[in-house]
Amino acid sequence: AFRAHPVHVHQKHIDFTSLQEIPDSHKWTQIDDEQRPLVDPLITESVPVIDLSDPNVLQNIGHACKTWGVVQVTNHGIPTSLLENIESASRSLFSLPIQQKLKAARSPDGVSGYGVPRISSFFSKLMWSEGFTIVGSPLEHFRHLWSQDYTKFCDIIEEYKKEMQKLARRLTRLMLGSLGITKKDLKWAGSTGESKKGSAALQLNYYPACPDPDQAMGLAAHTDSTLLTILYQSNTSGLQVLKEGIGWVTVPPIPGGLVVNVGDLLHILSNGLYPSVLHRAVVNRTKHRLSIAFLYGPPSSVEISPLQKLVGPNHPPLYRPVTWNEYLGTKATYFNKALSSVRICA
Ligand code: SIN
Ligand code: FE2
Repeated sequence: AFRAHPVHVHQKHIDFTSLQEIPDSHKWTQIDDEQRPLVDPLITESVPVIDLSDPNVLQNIGHACKTWGVVQVTNHGIPTSLLENIESASRSLFSLPIQQKLKAARSPDGVSGYGVPRISSFFSKLMWSEGFTIVGSPLEHFRHLWSQDYTKFCDIIEEYKKEMQKLARRLTRLMLGSLGITKKDLKWAGSTGESKKGSAALQLNYYPACPDPDQAMGLAAHTDSTLLTILYQSNTSGLQVLKEGIGWVTVPPIPGGLVVNVGDLLHILSNGLYPSVLHRAVVNRTKHRLSIAFLYGPPSSVEISPLQKLVGPNHPPLYRPVTWNEYLGTKATYFNKALSSVRICA
């Protein structure tokens, strides 16, 4: 369901481990102010933490989604051992020599595989990170990466995707439930058939320690083209979200917590009630950072449009219907302006 962005910048793979200072190609301070990695130290606001076992979960999550578009969830049911396993599998993947990783390089018009962040083509500077995208089975890539043992890695990935899929469906039900939306209002969400389940991708991100983090950008500001994204950011902070009227707010990892953010498609479904949060990742002088994003969307052929129940004489639909595929195409052209390009002008 994912389409690649047009490649304006040539994919530039670098071996971060050999760098003592930041090359010009990676210096973000030379471009616009908005992209500077610095955060105002006076900001004390923080992203809401939602306990999924709390009896008031519906109300809590709805309020947090409206005001922030992002939450951290605890008591989510994902076993700690699974998080530990995927973390150590991902770490060993990224610690392979670059020549080895490039054997699984994403092809120029492809989506799956190893490479620079997929949003790189929209920026004149390169980011301080590398990533691995997995859509469908990881087998074809992993076979090239490890001569033995690759089946063990595949099993962990498959198990992680299965558990995340369940959690993503539950979170979608909760987030929409608090707006009064039930399964019946969402034809595809109630079904369990394989093709109707919703599609997903797994994105592993690795941010090497950086000699001058104030000048570099781990992952530039973007919104996700998903319904929602579930992020495991292990134990190192780096994720920041833009809170309207306040500025960039750091989302510190909390033990056992997962970050869940509203994506563009949930913003459309909610007719703008839930903001699709702009976020980015900054880097660290001493620590390598790993994050694992589960990108969850609807079945690719389903049309997403503002839900009937949320539309009325005083609330005209703000967006035209789009399928996930179509939206990804729009995003590949307009990037962070994609939402406004599917907006219905009054
Ligand atoms: C992402 O936006 O996909 C990842 C952000 C992070 O690494 O914290
Ligand atoms: Fe993201």
